[in-house]
Amino acid sequence: MLELNRLYCGDTFKLIKKLDDNSVDLIICDGPYGVTQENWDKVANIQEFNLNLIKLFSRVLKPGGTLYLFGKDNCIDFIDYRKYLTLNRKIVWYQPSRLAQGRLNYTNNYDLIAYFSKGKADTFNLDDIRVPQMVELTQRRRCENVPSVKNGKYNKTKFNENGKNPGDVWGDIKQLTYKSKELVSRELLNTIQKPEKLIERLVHASSNPGDVVFDPFSGVGTTMKVCKKLNRNFIGFEINPQYVEIANERVKSSNQNKELSLFD
Ligand SMILES: C[S@@+](CC[C@H](N)C(=O)[O-])C[C@H]1O[C@@H](n2cnc3c(N)ncnc32)[C@H](O)[C@@H]1O
Repeated sequence: MLELNRLYCGDTFKLIKKLDDNSVDLIICDGPYGVTQENWDKVANIQEFNLNLIKLFSRVLKPGGTLYLFGKDNCIDFIDYRKYLTLNRKIVWYQPSRLAQGRLNYTNNYDLIAYFSKGKADTFNLDDIRVPQMVELTQRRRCENVPSVKNGKYNKTKFNENGKNPGDVWGDIKQLTYKSKELVSRELLNTIQKPEKLIERLVHASSNPGDVVFDPFSGVGTTMKVCKKLNRNFIGFEINPQYVEIANERVKSSNQNKELSLFD
């Protein structure tokens, strides 16, 4: 078993062999999308690439553990992942600020986050990821008596003062911009760095304090930083030594939850 709370520099496909079977509670996989000209993103067939990852992840995930796999809209099309993991939902991470300059087709303006588990997911902390019920709050009376999607019968919808399920289209978390305070450097915009808020939602929803979170393509360490903040154990792999250095520096200088953190 590898040491917890460390980012290892190297190739995920080699390093993953060192992870024990059934040892990880949550995997956040933000690897190649197969769309840019970056060397690390060049993949002959992204679907086959992802199927291979799903197969490798199914070994290291604990039964009931969760995988979030990032990609473009077609990243898991026409592959049969069912003997490895269960697909629970395809989450659309919608980015309305994209310039949308396509001329021959509708411009793609979302990333897919495929939400898998090994069998039935053990952890789904809905109360930790609720979002404001904007329309329902202002028109509460009208929204409480609506026909059920399942049988068409009118019934009261459940109203929760603490907010609602974020659903499967997430437009409330914005992609980073040049002005984002958390952006490590301009070169990392769009292709590398993800917003901490986005990763926080995944970690909150599908793990508990003390759980083991694995990020096989760690980049500049967003998941590692979030795990420190939320007191989860972390294991990460990243092939680019410069990114590993940046990630370690980022985590070292983040002092949230310092007294409680598993990292100290
Ligand atoms: C989209 S970025 C991840 C960004 C990360 N989520 C963050 O917020 O910083 C994908 C990363 O995967 C790394 N990578 C690509 N192929 C790899 C491999 N075979 N093993 C390890 N890392 C790899 C790249 O260097 C890149 O940093």
